[in-house]
Amino acid sequence: MNYLEQARKYEDKYSKTISDEERPLYHISPAIGWLNDPNGFSWYNGKYHLFYQYMPYQTRWSPMMHWGHVESADLIHWERKPVFMAPEADYETGCYSGSAITAPDGSHLIMYTAHYQSLPDEDAENPIFEESVETQCIIKGDGTEYKRLPENPVIGTHDMPDGGKTADFRDPCIWYENGEYFCVLAIRMLETSLGSIVIYKSADAINWEYRGVLMRNDGRFGQMWECPDFFELDKKSVLILSATDVQNFDPCFRGGHCTYAFIGDYDKIGMDFRDDSFQNLDLGFDFYAPQTMLTPDGRRIMIAWMADPDSAKCAPTGSKWNGQMTFPRELRIKDGHLYQLPIREIEEFYDSAVSAAGQAQEETSFDGVRGKAVDITVEADGKEKYLKDFCMKFAVDDKDPDRKYVSVEYDGITNRLIVDRSHAGRTASIENRREVEIRGEDNGKKLKLRVLLDRFSFEIFVNDGAEVLSGTLYESDPSWDGITFKAPDAELNIVCLTLR
Ligand code: FRU
Repeated sequence: MNYLEQARKYEDKYSKTISDEERPLYHISPAIGWLNDPNGFSWYNGKYHLFYQYMPYQTRWSPMMHWGHVESADLIHWERKPVFMAPEADYETGCYSGSAITAPDGSHLIMYTAHYQSLPDEDAENPIFEESVETQCIIKGDGTEYKRLPENPVIGTHDMPDGGKTADFRDPCIWYENGEYFCVLAIRMLETSLGSIVIYKSADAINWEYRGVLMRNDGRFGQMWECPDFFELDKKSVLILSATDVQNFDPCFRGGHCTYAFIGDYDKIGMDFRDDSFQNLDLGFDFYAPQTMLTPDGRRIMIAWMADPDSAKCAPTGSKWNGQMTFPRELRIKDGHLYQLPIREIEEFYDSAVSAAGQAQEETSFDGVRGKAVDITVEADGKEKYLKDFCMKFAVDDKDPDRKYVSVEYDGITNRLIVDRSHAGRTASIENRREVEIRGEDNGKKLKLRVLLDRFSFEIFVNDGAEVLSGTLYESDPSWDGITFKAPDAELNIVCLTLR
């Protein structure tokens, strides 16, 4: 039996042991086992396709990466497809991240990283050491049947820029423009140990020519860079990348793993990218390796792994799956800033709506405003005064409300927003409190929060998506569905939409 067949059999047998209630209602989770980066996010032949880094056999990461696959007509209802790819070619022991496009010949073209790790050598001084090599490969298909190209790897070690590390050369983001293929890739430079994003060009997606460095890590943005995504939006160019080993001198940027968006201008002839600004794409706890795609109606949609390589190590005890994607978000640039909002398709998915308005001098719950799978918006208006002591709590256990909840506090004078999930049943030693500065609305006299809650996660969109904070909630019981507000001297307007 080959690896792919083996994985499909295993998935088929064991995914059935997970009930729907044990999963998120509207966020993608793996059929069984482990999920990390989104891959090959694309529109092909009338359907959205999302692939992902997948290890069906365990809830931990492994270099023996497979690809999972889901398909959707509306970006909300995803149909699970059989395991897509297993490391089976002689040039790979793991199928790492990559991207997908529709090729001019009408086929679905996927470019990914073949990660190859040689077996430990018993006679070596350190038998654990395994030198790895990463090359870029192509697989083509029609939505159902796919084949690796016989020319693989199409970008081998000899095509690497001088001074690059063969073990860290990955995650191609491919596109097709004016009759030519392009791709950007992440690479670690041996001399500095820092990441760069490099660009290649090809006439046929088989023979690639190295065209230089698109962006170089000058040491301010962690060390290795991973998963670049490069696109045009609102007359600007955006380079998204995920950085490892970040030291967080500024609390708005996360330490450890952080995903940045650089906004600037790209000269297509000189293949030169100049960034004017950068921002942390998600100020919360769990967000990494996002990918974007263009919908047929021209929207730029992003989806990310709702975890990072560190936080994901704390797999929920006893769970048979580990890993979720964020809800798809539409990106826009306004005044040089990248905004994110849940895709509008979510509106088709509402079940019931409850509105409430009024004041909340003390912690208050409003009739019918509750739920653990909701899209809830609260607008707080300080009426010419700075908001003070604002607090929203969700995932509240009504039986033990002082000890089981997630809180979001805001102070309009300092523009500080604090999200605290340390009372969410959490048992793992991971980051539980984020205090960040946001772009205040009306100078801190108003605040608008939209929260997508889904059993095991939250995504908080602040002031129409100027900032987003995402986090998983694996130990918060789905029955903890209380929601409360406190906003002294402010006027509140709440709309709570339950999701089907
Ligand atoms: C990012 C990443 C990628 C790599 C993949 C392996 O999370 O490290 O750089 O391709 O995961 O699973």
